[in-house]
Amino acid sequence: MRPRPSGSPCFAAIAHARIRTHAYALLQNTVHCSALRCCTEAGYQHTLLVHGKRCFHIELNQYMNAKPEQLQARGGALLTPRSSTAPGAFLAASAGVRLLVGGWTTRGATCRQRSARRTPARWVCMDQGAAPVGTRKSIQALENALQPTAFHRRVTILGSTGSIGTQTLDIVRSCPDKFSVVALAANGSNVELLAEQTHEFSPELVAIRDTARLETYREALRQRGVPEPPHIVAGEDGVVECARYGDADVVVTGLVGCAGLLPTVAAIKARKDIALANKETLIAGGPVVVPLVHEYGIHLTPADSEHSALFQCLQGAPDGALRRIILTASGGAFRDWDVSRLAHVTAADALKHPNWNMGPKITCDSATLMNKGLEVIEAHFLFGIDYDAIEIVIHPQSIIHSAVEFQDTSVLAQLGWPDMRLPLLYALSWPHRLRIEAFRPLDLVQVGSLTFRAPDHDKYPCMLLAYAAGRRGGTMPAVLNAANEVAVELFLRNELDFMGIPAVIERTMQRHDTSDWKQTPTLDDLVAADAWARRTAREEAAKRPIYSAGANLETQKT
Ligand SMILES: NC(=O)c1ccc[n+]([C@@H]2O[C@H](COP(=O)([O-])OP(=O)(O)OC[C@H]3O[C@@H](n4cnc5c(N)ncnc54)[C@H](OP(=O)(O)O)[C@@H]3O)[C@@H](O)[C@H]2O)c1
Repeated sequence: MRPRPSGSPCFAAIAHARIRTHAYALLQNTVHCSALRCCTEAGYQHTLLVHGKRCFHIELNQYMNAKPEQLQARGGALLTPRSSTAPGAFLAASAGVRLLVGGWTTRGATCRQRSARRTPARWVCMDQGAAPVGTRKSIQALENALQPTAFHRRVTILGSTGSIGTQTLDIVRSCPDKFSVVALAANGSNVELLAEQTHEFSPELVAIRDTARLETYREALRQRGVPEPPHIVAGEDGVVECARYGDADVVVTGLVGCAGLLPTVAAIKARKDIALANKETLIAGGPVVVPLVHEYGIHLTPADSEHSALFQCLQGAPDGALRRIILTASGGAFRDWDVSRLAHVTAADALKHPNWNMGPKITCDSATLMNKGLEVIEAHFLFGIDYDAIEIVIHPQSIIHSAVEFQDTSVLAQLGWPDMRLPLLYALSWPHRLRIEAFRPLDLVQVGSLTFRAPDHDKYPCMLLAYAAGRRGGTMPAVLNAANEVAVELFLRNELDFMGIPAVIERTMQRHDTSDWKQTPTLDDLVAADAWARRTAREEAAKRPIYSAGANLETQKT
């Protein structure tokens, strides 16, 4: 049974407040268990309950039949005496209560995908995340690192010809006594570079996803006179085989998009540690990947700069110490643009990142700030942290890579130049600290000033879509991710306008919400949701006006 819509004035008030939320409903005046049940059946996991003059945030599944006193004990924000629906909700929203809201009758509600302002969560279970923090095992690893042991790691790199892959190989090149290469995988668009890497690093196995590129690669090897060509595998199965191959200690996932999911699962099952750059794996596959990490007892270390910063700050912190995380964002290519100009930006505009040199997909995600939204979900799965305790702050200099706040309000941040090799090195060497002479030490005087500002949600709606998908959980983050991949691909081919990216994603999410959403998906469910979302996003994009580079919106597609 789904909640019945009602035209309450409260919705208008909240819309006016420009506060967006997902999966929240407002109850007035009394606790209606039937109403709560109705919300639960509709899949809404959180409710803002207004009881008398108090406002409580509750999790439906846990508090279905709770008494008002129990809810009060759980904590709630005090509303002003004006607790009638519209102003009460408006004030709660303005006060930062996590909401929102549709109108409510005792038997139904209108719940719209609108995201909330943040209030810090009180409970954070770091040991439920994928990253090794806050657990007995991770502390043991830290203790082991205090022993003087010889350090050497055998590395497999998925996506070796990309930005992450080539920077990982830079590290291997800088310290050949510490790292060696077991296997490489790439899509096949740059076989010359792949052959060059094969020549230099002598991997035992190379995987090329695009079978049509195999012969060109073999020819490139012949031209270089590679004395012992590697074992070569091809196709998607070949990439999976590469991920689980041989005696590699750690697999760097530098693939783009959800293509990383199955190889990462294969590597975990082969008991390889994972240095995770490919965030889409965790965003789409979190409900499956996190339990696998625990089941197979491997270490999954984040290579994304923000999550590496959090990971570094959390070393040695006991479970329960974390109160909030602050994800910093450069603001992407359009951070200084007025929102009115965004309708007409081109792919070339979006690919000019002010601070980082990365592959095209993530650079475009940075321009929409979807990258930050994806990182919110990534942080949730890595550190077991509630979405309400994850804050995004724009930090144009990209020197503070992110920060954690502990229960006593002490904040620890990690700083460094915007250079992906540092987080990659830590992901590969954790919990050790290796010295690499080629790394330029940070010079704070040269940096001069560090500035911060709040993100603009009107300009960057993708962030709130990501929060909404994360809060909805289950298959929804996979759908968000797949729809984003399609929308970005179309935008980069000038087949979708820039503002079409969030529009396509939102429509795809809405359609999934009312059709096949699953709360506890299997790997097959996630793969199916990904495929469905790609088809649906294409359909939605086809309804948008055609955008041609440098021009205005043109004719309507049929
Ligand atoms: N770049 C960064 O600084 C950065 C920072 C944080 C996180 N990340 C994340 O790291 C991942 C990689 O990003 P990137 O910027 O390195 O991307 P990129 O420069 O576009 O490189 C992607 C690599 O993956 C390969 N590849 C793509 N699809 C594949 C497939 N289906 N099977 C096998 N190989 C495939 C590509 O091969 P070809 O060269 O043959 O096409 C290339 O080697 C993304 O998830 C991104 O979000 C990147």
